[in-house]
Amino acid sequence: MKEKKTVPADVGKAFLLEVIQRHAARTEEAVLLDLESALSDNDPLLLEVLKYSLLKGGKRLRPVLAILSSRVCGRDDDNLYLLAATFEYLHAGSLIHDDVIDHAENRRGKESVVKKYGMAAAILAGDWLHARCMHLIGTLAGQQGLDIVCNATQSMVDGEFLQLRYAANSAVTEEQYRSVVLRKTARLMSATCEIGALYGHANPTQQSALARYGEKIGIAFQIVDDLLDYLGDEQATGKVVGNDFIEGKMTLPLIHALAHASDAERAELITAVEHTPRDSDGCARARQLMRAAESFAFSRQRACQEIEEGLAALSCFAHKEHQESLAVLEQLAGYILRRDR
Ligand code: IPE
Ligand code: IPE
Ligand code: MG
Ligand code: MG
Repeated sequence: MKEKKTVPADVGKAFLLEVIQRHAARTEEAVLLDLESALSDNDPLLLEVLKYSLLKGGKRLRPVLAILSSRVCGRDDDNLYLLAATFEYLHAGSLIHDDVIDHAENRRGKESVVKKYGMAAAILAGDWLHARCMHLIGTLAGQQGLDIVCNATQSMVDGEFLQLRYAANSAVTEEQYRSVVLRKTARLMSATCEIGALYGHANPTQQSALARYGEKIGIAFQIVDDLLDYLGDEQATGKVVGNDFIEGKMTLPLIHALAHASDAERAELITAVEHTPRDSDGCARARQLMRAAESFAFSRQRACQEIEEGLAALSCFAHKEHQESLAVLEQLAGYILRRDR
């Protein structure tokens, strides 16, 4: 389906939200239809847990990225929304498992799956979502799509392992942090965009441009997520603020503060990070020290740089056709920096 060429490149925030909402709604329809067709004769608790984790809440960023990546290359059809849904499956399954690993009791403004349904349901529902995602990607994007998504999923697991290895280690560097973020978050966003491109019959230049865009905005996305873990509003994020500190996660503001605080403050931070139990008072003090060291501003600056590199990757699409999708991809990059949820 061809897009209209009348939309100006300078789309506003309201337009961005409207496009996201429209694509998210069609993705949700695809999810419901697929669950119905895949689960006709199964234990009812499985469907309940899947619906609990998939429906309502969530920004639907990954499905929207897949849809836009295909559309910017010129393809939009009904199956695109099923393809988009598969990325929400993979993401939701990863979040269910991530909340087990991170001991997180809240997700998307309600109890996490592990908190509400217990460990067995969390492990199994996450497994189902990953398996269904792989099955659908194979069907819709072939072996090449499967290779891309499986590599990214393997990377995500590796990134989570690496993050556990670095936990509560005050010697972790920015480079090590970047490698965690690349693996656990950015490669999946990159794969989402690349498979969207593949589905849209992109040429090799377009495919690698979208993969690069996804990787860069993925790194920025995780940096901002890590900032929100210190500075966010729980009502907006739907998650417990301060959990990263309590879990001993070495995220960018903390790494920056450890490298830039005065000797006395660094010693205080090392004690706070490396000694358990870590609590919300320790987190509040660490937040103060990070603010004093301008570590939040530094991290935001790093995210900005990644976004700029992501935007630069889109330059090969600078043609008039499909400019609505191009404009939304560009606006989305900015939204990732500004977001509060
Ligand atoms: C959370 O992702 C996990 C990260 C990679 C930081 P989102 O912030 O996209 O989660 P939802 O889908 O909106 O809940
Ligand atoms: C999770 O990162 C990335 C995944 C592999 C799912 P986080 O642990 O920071 O995500 P949140 O903050 O729980 O959403
Ligand atoms: Mg987590
Ligand atoms: Mg987080």
